[in-house]
Amino acid sequence: MDQSLLHPVQRTGRAIRVVHRPTNLGDALAILADRSGALPVAGGTDLLLDLHRGGPGEPVELLDLTNVDGLSDISSTSDCITLGATVTHNQVVRSADIRGSALPLAQACLEVASPQLRNRATVAGNIITASPANDTISALMALDAIVTLAHLDGDGSVVTRDVAIDDFFTGFRTTVIEPGELLTAINVPRLSAHCRGMWVKLGMRRAQAISVIHMAIVISIDDDGIVAGARIAAGSVAPRVVLLPTVAAALIGNQLDDSTIAAAALAASDAIDPIDDVRATADYRKQTIKTVTSRTLAALRDNRQAEMWPAEPPCLTDTGWMSSDRSSPTQVDESTPISVTVNGTTITAAGAASRNLLDWLRDQAASEPEAGPLTGTKEGCAEGECGACTVMLDGQAVMSCLVPAAQAAGGEVTTVEGLADDSELHPLQQAFIDDFAVQCGFCIPGFLVSGTALIDEVNRPDDEQIKLALSGNICRCTGYYPIMDAVRNAADSEGGS
Ligand SMILES: Cc1cc2nc3c(=O)[nH]c(=O)nc-3n(C[C@H](O)[C@H](O)[C@H](O)COP(=O)(O)OP(=O)(O)OC[C@H]3O[C@@H](n4cnc5c(N)ncnc54)[C@H](O)[C@@H]3O)c2cc1C
Ligand code: FES
Ligand code: FES
Repeated sequence: MDQSLLHPVQRTGRAIRVVHRPTNLGDALAILADRSGALPVAGGTDLLLDLHRGGPGEPVELLDLTNVDGLSDISSTSDCITLGATVTHNQVVRSADIRGSALPLAQACLEVASPQLRNRATVAGNIITASPANDTISALMALDAIVTLAHLDGDGSVVTRDVAIDDFFTGFRTTVIEPGELLTAINVPRLSAHCRGMWVKLGMRRAQAISVIHMAIVISIDDDGIVAGARIAAGSVAPRVVLLPTVAAALIGNQLDDSTIAAAALAASDAIDPIDDVRATADYRKQTIKTVTSRTLAALRDNRQAEMWPAEPPCLTDTGWMSSDRSSPTQVDESTPISVTVNGTTITAAGAASRNLLDWLRDQAASEPEAGPLTGTKEGCAEGECGACTVMLDGQAVMSCLVPAAQAAGGEVTTVEGLADDSELHPLQQAFIDDFAVQCGFCIPGFLVSGTALIDEVNRPDDEQIKLALSGNICRCTGYYPIMDAVRNAADSEGGS
């Protein structure tokens, strides 16, 4: 079949031939050096889509970083917080240290995609994709972060270099990363006592929304109330995320009063050169950035920068990053069997290199004799947008359509079939029936897995928490009120406190 005749979602995309799963950085860099063209993968939420949408071509090899020791840690010193390359957005959201000392980054991470995506997607992947719409970039630029890159030298030693985030991007979706290099760390200076920072996003809706504008402002204010320093970064307003020095100039040396704020807002509008695209016209962006700038500055003046942070944002997770299993294969090709404990039963099956976890569960695992029914998990979009494919992977809700199956090797998966206790439905399943929260049913397995994860995490979620938790799940026919009722009632019947 001529692939060019198909709609983009019908095309097969690039096949994955081998997934390398090294356990230390030296081995990862050696694979990169030996096998030019092996593509690093962390959460896979950008890469799998790029491979799919890019159309057919030579099969690729992936270099999975999620099993590499030490890359999933957040570490800190008195003046800096360091994120390893596989630190996810939800790890940042859960870090009280980052909220306290680098709030704009936590605010940006909380607005990326949906809880399931945030459990997989990494901050490093977000900046390496280098889209001007990628939310964490403006936060990291305003915070003056430094990125660490590593490669192997001629005698096989690991060599690193540090690059200021301002110098990391070379243009639209391009960076200074050289072939053979990996990003290993993002170093974020702590905001000092005189500094305040805030990140904001203007999007078409509250979740799964590509930014129309995103902006981060960090200012320092001296004892007389004068702005002593300012870094302002904005995204979706130019081919790359940009610093706005003229806005800083309008602030520095002045009291943060209404006239200074108005001058800074005007300077922001004058400084940007956006394009018209599907989300907004250039003119709309030039107008609205004035409002975004002035509201953000007013919030900083009044020390209200953390006001919009939800009390306890649910992450649909009970762990940090996936637990690594060192005994799982370090190289997975199409014939390599991987073992995954699915709903309590260990299933061993091949076909993991070329498949996402959703397809591996439905095609490969389901046909093993020891597996029970496994077709409850659905494909709605295959692009991380709808949540119908939600499963728990090592204690985290994930979009299984965007998880390379090889990354689940040695892990534990719970699908909708694993929620009931033998013949007794899970209280949330019963509540969906009692509250008429089901029509066609296609989306329901995903809602049930996300909803169960929420109740496990928060006990008695309030409406804001339910909305946040289910923001990655879309239903085209029931409507959301009965679904919210069911979650609320199931939480009540579980007797959480
Ligand atoms: C439905 C959906 C909604 C989304 N919504 C948002 C949103 O609201 N805001 C937003 O900013 N983004 C959004 N994204 C984009 C995406 O989720 C983020 O960019 C994410 O942070 C990418 O991280 P990842 O770990 O999944 O990257 P991956 O897909 O694993 O990797 C991304 C790129 O970085 C390379 N790479 C990864 N790690 C390294 C490394 N350590 N060294 C060298 N190269 C590396 C990969 O080869 C690839 O080119 C969305 C994506 C989807 C599918
Ligand atoms: S989010 Fe995976 S199928 Fe839609
Ligand atoms: S019940 Fe039909 S899509 Fe949700």
